[in-house]
Amino acid sequence: MPSAPVTVRKAVIPAAGLGTRFLPASKASPKEMLPVVDKPAIQYVVEEAARAGLDDVLLITGRSKRAVEDHFDHNWELEATLEANGDLERLAIVRESSDIATVHSVRQGQPKGLGHAVLCAAAHVGHEPFAVLLGDDLIDERDELLTTMIDVQRQRGGSVIALIEVPPETISMYGCVAVAPTDTPNVLRITDMVEKPAVDEAPSNYAIIGRYLLAPEIFDVLRKTQPGRGGEIQLTDALKVLADRDGDGGGVHGVLFRGRRYDTGDRLEYLRTVVLLASERDDLGPPFRAFLRDFVATFDAS
Ligand code: UTP
Repeated sequence: MPSAPVTVRKAVIPAAGLGTRFLPASKASPKEMLPVVDKPAIQYVVEEAARAGLDDVLLITGRSKRAVEDHFDHNWELEATLEANGDLERLAIVRESSDIATVHSVRQGQPKGLGHAVLCAAAHVGHEPFAVLLGDDLIDERDELLTTMIDVQRQRGGSVIALIEVPPETISMYGCVAVAPTDTPNVLRITDMVEKPAVDEAPSNYAIIGRYLLAPEIFDVLRKTQPGRGGEIQLTDALKVLADRDGDGGGVHGVLFRGRRYDTGDRLEYLRTVVLLASERDDLGPPFRAFLRDFVATFDAS
């Protein structure tokens, strides 16, 4: 049997969660489709995957499958109208989202947790390492993360997760890890993992964020993983099994990310992200910043 390829080629983007923090906006449309300025959050994530060379993208969709699928497909009617009107600039924008990558989708029948969503990718992924990018978690394109993780996976094998340092009192909102140092700066060996621990039980203030490079052995582990915290099949629980394992896809490393990250699944973070990215844009930035200056001055005056 030929040995399994070690290069990461496929990206899986789970977007089937209930998005309860964003109701009612997420009632009939996934939170991953919320616009961040003028692009849905999930398009930034697909673009990030493609930039890192992962141009085979599998979306895990839920009840509102159509909106996400349609966004990455051609809209012939719209394109024909824009072409007929000679609106080539907008035509290019519309075509961009269907040309970023080869986008497939599979449906997660019930939102049984992130681990279950990842398991839905088993048939498409096959026996090769793959990336998971959460569709509401944005990494600023000026900051590097995914290609660093791919390098670490190539050198060390096993799985690689992304970590940020958070204020200790907020660790209960995240998956958390215990770590041991390696000989590479910002690369840590994961020795334990726990999903959303109580503040006084957290092994560190290193939090897991929404980028993973997973060994295909994760699928077998996920098949046996029982529902954990919140009654959901947790990816963290399955990763912990791989972190404890020698060989056979075992070993998990963490890459410490110190760049800009935007959690658009949280309302306040979402608002901050839209304001930040809009104010940095060449087209919208100047008038938007002028508006913000005047608007903020009204707070000072009152
Ligand atoms: P979250 O932890 O943000 O959960 O999921 P959620 O249900 O989407 O949102 P809230 O907390 O109720 O507001 C993390 C990622 O995993 C996906 C989500 O779409 C999100 O990208 N997910 C979660 C699934 O695809 N399926 C699931 O069953 C659960």
